[in-house]
Amino acid sequence: MFARLAGTGHFLPEHILTNAELERRVDTSDAWIRERTGIRERRVCSADESVVSMATEAAKRALAAADLPAEHLDLIVVATTSADRAFPSAACEVQHALGITDTPAFDVAAACSGFLFALSVAEKYIVSGAAKHVLVIGSDALTRMCNPDDRNTIILFGDGAGAAVLSASTEPGILSTHIYSAGEFASLLGADHPNRSDEAFQQEAWLYMRGREVFKVAVEKLAELVEHTLAFHQMKATELDWLIPHQANYRIIQATARKLNMPMAQVVMTLEKTGNTSAASVPIALDVAIRDGRIQPGQTLLLEAFGGGFAWGSALIRY
Ligand code: UT7
Repeated sequence: MFARLAGTGHFLPEHILTNAELERRVDTSDAWIRERTGIRERRVCSADESVVSMATEAAKRALAAADLPAEHLDLIVVATTSADRAFPSAACEVQHALGITDTPAFDVAAACSGFLFALSVAEKYIVSGAAKHVLVIGSDALTRMCNPDDRNTIILFGDGAGAAVLSASTEPGILSTHIYSAGEFASLLGADHPNRSDEAFQQEAWLYMRGREVFKVAVEKLAELVEHTLAFHQMKATELDWLIPHQANYRIIQATARKLNMPMAQVVMTLEKTGNTSAASVPIALDVAIRDGRIQPGQTLLLEAFGGGFAWGSALIRY
């Protein structure tokens, strides 16, 4: 039994935050941001939008694409680290918003790599026969966790959600998933949950990132990861049709593509207009390229992500 991608969807908030606007807020420039990251603009949640509302919208679009009523879902997994509430989980709230009940629903926390971790869980449920249809969502609103005065982080992140319905099939779909974690890097990237009452702590609870150091480890781990994923299948990079990377930084993506000897024309990029949407970035890119017709049935896709934890992961998929 295989888990196949039956439908995908994504949602981005309407409000656009441009580099020009950031120039007015912090000591930065459009030229610096574009040159160092490749980002021109990102989307930001309005007061009445949230991780749950974005996730629900992306889920509805994925279910419609899969032509599957929500009642048929056996499991809902939401990858997020920025939900409004510690509990109930975002997944429980999404389940309710979809108008269903009883379906097991839980969150997975693996920061920017969350979607790959959630996909890995979903795949195992399907391959083991424990579920037929699983809804996997990546949804994050990291702009809410960034100190508006911190130019290191505020330029990088955007909000959004992406979703995929996985269904059991006798035809190959997800060929394999590979996930890794290394907790010793916690001081380089993280955000404390603002659930402590002392005011001093609240002030310190913003997302922190030692960008240059994160960059170095990301490039190194992603190179190992894509190499390992291909070796696992005794596959050559030339057999890949599309690389669908986490959209954190153009230069990190370029380094991974170079490692694979893949031209950038075969790399799905949304970064310029979305910024880094954390757990949402891979499923958003996946959905964009499916909907615009670049990704075609039978093609082979390599998905990868790296982020806080550190946690990183890949999936090799026959679409
Ligand atoms: O999603 C997963 C986790 N996150 C990532 O993968 C992010 C990984 N890191 C990065 O993408 C990059 O490290 C950044 C985009 C965050 C930064 O780019 P960089 O090329 O590594 O810059 P840097 O931190 O080495 O800073 C270079 C210079 C510094 O000035 P000096 O010391 O050379 O005078 C910074 O103070 O740029 C300065 N700088 C800025 N200047 C204008 C830092 N941030 C900014 C800014 N605008 N926003």
